[in-house]
Amino acid sequence: MSGLLDTTAKQDAAARVPPRAARDARDVLARCRSIVDPALRAAVGTLPAPIRNTSGYHLGWWDEHGTAATASGGKTLRAALVLLAARAVGGESTAAVPGAVAVELVHNFSLLHDDVMDGDTTRRHRPTAWSVFGSDAAILAGNSMLALAFEVLTSPGSPSATDTVPALNTAVQELMAGQSADLEFESRNDVGLAECVRMAEHKTGALLGCACALGAMAGRGEPDQVALLRRFGERIGLAFQIIDDLLGIWGDESVTGKPAFSDLRNRKKSLPAVLALTSGTEEGAELAALYAREEPPSGSDLPRAAGLIEAAGGRQWCVRRADSLLEEALSDLTMAASSASARAELTALAKLVTSRDH
Ligand code: IPE
Ligand code: IPE
Ligand code: MG
Ligand code: MG
Repeated sequence: MSGLLDTTAKQDAAARVPPRAARDARDVLARCRSIVDPALRAAVGTLPAPIRNTSGYHLGWWDEHGTAATASGGKTLRAALVLLAARAVGGESTAAVPGAVAVELVHNFSLLHDDVMDGDTTRRHRPTAWSVFGSDAAILAGNSMLALAFEVLTSPGSPSATDTVPALNTAVQELMAGQSADLEFESRNDVGLAECVRMAEHKTGALLGCACALGAMAGRGEPDQVALLRRFGERIGLAFQIIDDLLGIWGDESVTGKPAFSDLRNRKKSLPAVLALTSGTEEGAELAALYAREEPPSGSDLPRAAGLIEAAGGRQWCVRRADSLLEEALSDLTMAASSASARAELTALAKLVTSRDH
């Protein structure tokens, strides 16, 4: 887990995730992006002009004046999961394009709103949409993208809406529950580990699980394959959020493209922080005192808080939990996938989730 571990652990991780595998995963993402991008652009192109501009800016396609740009639109991991899950059960990735566009729209809706809620001014190495166009514009663009997701999902030729619409709606409602808990926890000082894990499962695991399930449905997988692939996605989704929490503390801002220490500044009860706060250690108590002060942590408080979390075992617990989730996810994948090549590509993506630096 580059950047997140001490030197010895880094060497172990490097041995487990050779650079070639990471390169393979990036190639898989790029290929899936090239399949989904035209349909995503066509869908966003149907939005009303001001909304379209804000959405296209957020997706990296345009600058703030609407001139073409080549900024990052994100890793498109969720869309790739949809396409590959369809192939994993013996289907075609083309059948899964509407589902892939839909989950990517939901994801980007959630980011547009999340940056308003978290007050973050940088994402994907650029000023966040709300900080350029204002919160109202970002909220409206998010709303439009969410509604559009359901329109795309039910477009002609897509798998039965009777199955896919409730699946996506459930994931969206869980994401809302997760975001709601994430925000509520900021002002609570008694957050337990189990409820914190549940929050992360909701805000991130649900949509990755749904991505895999929608792909498996589009590929006409058997119900047990759909269920196993959903669980595979949920597990790598929780691992994804754990790594996101670590990157928010120990990541390199110039690589993540997101503001360093934002979670600590907001007194977020992220997984490493809650692990430390509930550890019963002196460092955990010091972190609790720092979080309980009237003023939010700032300046030298921030590296101090990071050091306390590490000393209380929060960093190591997260690394281990992400590793065990990866292992469990891969065993679900082995049981679910009938296509060896799709399984290999999903394995590469799952490994990238826990070894990523952005
Ligand atoms: C960020 O997701 C939000 C989380 C769920 C942690 P990604 O890291 O997948 O965001 P992009 O789309 O690649 O920027
Ligand atoms: C991630 O939120 C989940 C959603 C956006 C629903 P975070 O606040 O943890 O993610 P980042 O770090 O801002 O991307
Ligand atoms: Mg955020
Ligand atoms: Mg947030």
